[in-house]
Amino acid sequence: MRISLNEAVEFIKKGKVVAIPTETVYGLAASIQFEEAIEEIFLLKGRPNTNPLIVHLPYFQALNEYCIIEPHLQKLADAFWPGPLTIVLEATLNKIPSIARAGLSTVAFRVPAHPLTKQLLCETGPLVAPSANLSGRPSSTSVEHVEQDFGNHFPVLDGGICQEGLESTIITYQEGQWKIIRKGALSAEEFVKILGYLPPFVGAKKGDTPLCPGQMFRHYAPKAKLHLQIQDSVPLVLGFIERDYLPKKQISLGSLSQPLGVAQNLYAILRKIDEEGYTEASVDMNFPIGGIWDTIRERLERASLP
Ligand code: TXA
Ligand code: MG
Repeated sequence: MRISLNEAVEFIKKGKVVAIPTETVYGLAASIQFEEAIEEIFLLKGRPNTNPLIVHLPYFQALNEYCIIEPHLQKLADAFWPGPLTIVLEATLNKIPSIARAGLSTVAFRVPAHPLTKQLLCETGPLVAPSANLSGRPSSTSVEHVEQDFGNHFPVLDGGICQEGLESTIITYQEGQWKIIRKGALSAEEFVKILGYLPPFVGAKKGDTPLCPGQMFRHYAPKAKLHLQIQDSVPLVLGFIERDYLPKKQISLGSLSQPLGVAQNLYAILRKIDEEGYTEASVDMNFPIGGIWDTIRERLERASLP
């Protein structure tokens, strides 16, 4: 059910869950003031309660009342907010409900850039919003994707197709430096001009508790099995328009010269494999290293896990 901005404000103020557009992916939003609505988000998504949610704020200044301010924070916010960056900080007072934080002492914050959601946040105040997909599935980058996962009656604020198409990059400050704990729409190289160094990516190591709990779970996956090498026995290839995979059928990820386009379409393509009834697909992983390609590669690798 597509709803207006005013209806979205009204629903959220009444403690309901609403799907909202952001420049990265759609989110399932609830006010931080309604713990029951936050609980409902976990149930709707089938999300483990050990996986915390991102708190979305209308503007940077709203952060002061919730957390400890680390070095370079103002510079990072000036450079990348509003935008596809999430920053994990040590929470000060207990103002963000524990259920949203999955019991952690830290909170993840983001100031999104989508104009509708910016207006919404100004009216409602902080909103928790995980990606609007069933847990484990590809995220939603259009209203149709939200409807596929939650049904046509679920209230959605229609903001069109998400511009970035991949989730925000998540960083945290640890041992005197900023580290990337989830690759995302903002590539690592972008930080160099602000921080003066390339923030290292700290992924989930076997046996360790990862800095980003979400990295523990299977994610972004279609129902079809994905092979990261082209298989003789599999008739479908996710490939690039510059290349020919005949006699196999190709579903195009886009152009090797336009990684932003590939990023924007990625989840729609992963969903399309299932929509078209394929049970298996090979992926052409022979694409450049660096920049947003690294996030695309990570998403495809995670999507192929059994
Ligand atoms: O682009 C995005 O970030 C989207 C849009 C809707 O804003 N949201 C999103 O939320 O991707 P979600 O819930 O699908 O992913 C949030 C990730 C999870 O992997 C979670 O573990 C991590 O953020 N996270 C949340 N709070 C954290 C914390 N305090 N410390 C470390 N990681 C945290
Ligand atoms: Mg997600």
